[in-house]
Amino acid sequence: MSPEAFRRWGYAVVDWLAEYQRRVESFPVLSRARPGELRAALPAAPPAAGESFAEILRDLDRLIVPGLTHWQSPNFFAFYPANNSGPSILGELLAAGLGVQGMMWITSPACTELETHVLDWLADLLGLPARFKSSGPGGGVIQDTASSAVLAALLAARERATGFASNEQGVHGHLVAYASAQAHSSVEKAVKIAGLGRANLRLLPVDASFALRSDALAAQIAADRAAGRTPCFVCATVGTTSSNAVDPVRALGEICQREGVWLHVDAAMAGTAALCPEFRWIHDGLELADSYAFNPHKWMFTNFDCDCFWVADRAALIRTFSVQPEYLRNPASQSGAVIDYRDWHVP
Ligand SMILES: Cc1ncc(COP(=O)(O)O)c(C=O)c1O
Repeated sequence: MSPEAFRRWGYAVVDWLAEYQRRVESFPVLSRARPGELRAALPAAPPAAGESFAEILRDLDRLIVPGLTHWQSPNFFAFYPANNSGPSILGELLAAGLGVQGMMWITSPACTELETHVLDWLADLLGLPARFKSSGPGGGVIQDTASSAVLAALLAARERATGFASNEQGVHGHLVAYASAQAHSSVEKAVKIAGLGRANLRLLPVDASFALRSDALAAQIAADRAAGRTPCFVCATVGTTSSNAVDPVRALGEICQREGVWLHVDAAMAGTAALCPEFRWIHDGLELADSYAFNPHKWMFTNFDCDCFWVADRAALIRTFSVQPEYLRNPASQSGAVIDYRDWHVP
C-alpha cells in the first residue's frame, strides 16, 4: 500500500469507526448469528488475489458487524464494563503505525522510558506505596492481561522461595499457593503453567462479604508447613469477579511478611476506582504486598489488552525472567543504566 493509499483508506477506516461509535447503541448487544454462519459466508480457500479496501469495509458492515457482540454498546452489562475510547483507539493506531519493538531500551529508548514514566505517574495516581516506583527498588510494567500479571508474580514468587533454583532444576511439588475460593480463574491457570500443580493451590473460605478469611490463610499455611510443604504465594483480590469483594490486604500482608510468602494483589477490575481519593481505601495495606496489578482495559477507557503490574523488588522479577542470548547483548543493557522490559514478562 502506498503512503497515499494508506492516507486515503486510513481516513476511511477512521470514518467507519466514528460511524460505528455513533450507531453502536442501535445494534442488538448480542449477535443473532447462528453457529457457523460467518464461516459459511467466507470462501473455503484463501483468495488468490487481495480485495480492495473498499470491499473489505463493505464486508465489515455486511458480514462482521452482524456477528459481533457489541461490547462498546451502552446497553452492554455482561461480565464487566470494558470500555475503549477515542484517545485509546487513536493511541493504538499511532503505536501500530510506529511499529517499534520495546523489548529492550536500545530497541526504542522512548518506548521504554515512556512506559516507566507513565507507570510511575499511575502509581502516584492510585496511591500505591513509593517502593513500587522505579525511583525505589520496584517498578511498573505493562503486561497484556491480569492473567499474565499473576503468572509473572507467581513465577517470581516460586523463584524467590527456591533460591532461584526452580528455573534451573524444575519444580519439585512442595510449593503451595493460596487464594480465596472467589479468586479469578487466572490464578488456577498460573499455578498450572508455573508447574506447581493444581493440587498445590489452596482455594480458601471467605466471610459473609465474600472476602478471604485471614484466619483460614494462617491456619492453612501452618498445616502445609507441618506437612513439610513450602508456602510461596498468596493472591489477594481487590474486587472479585463475581461480587467485587475486597480481601483484607493488610491482614493477609502481615501473615505473608511473617511467613516470608509473596503477596500479589489482583485489582484487575476494581483498581481503577482508587484514582478517586474516596475509594483509595481499597489499597489499604498495599505496602505489605510484593506485587500489584490492575486493568486499564476494564474501567479506564483503554482498549483490550492493557494490564499494569508493579513489583516492590524488581530484582527478583528480573532474575526470574532474564535470559542472555548473544544476539541481544548491547552496551546499554550491560551498563545496567537502563530498563529492558523483556526481562519483566514472558515475551
Ligand atoms: C479479579 C479479576 N482478576 C483477573 C481477571 C482476568 O483479567 P484478564 O482478562 O486481564 O486476564 C479478571 C477478569 O475479569 C478479574 O475480574
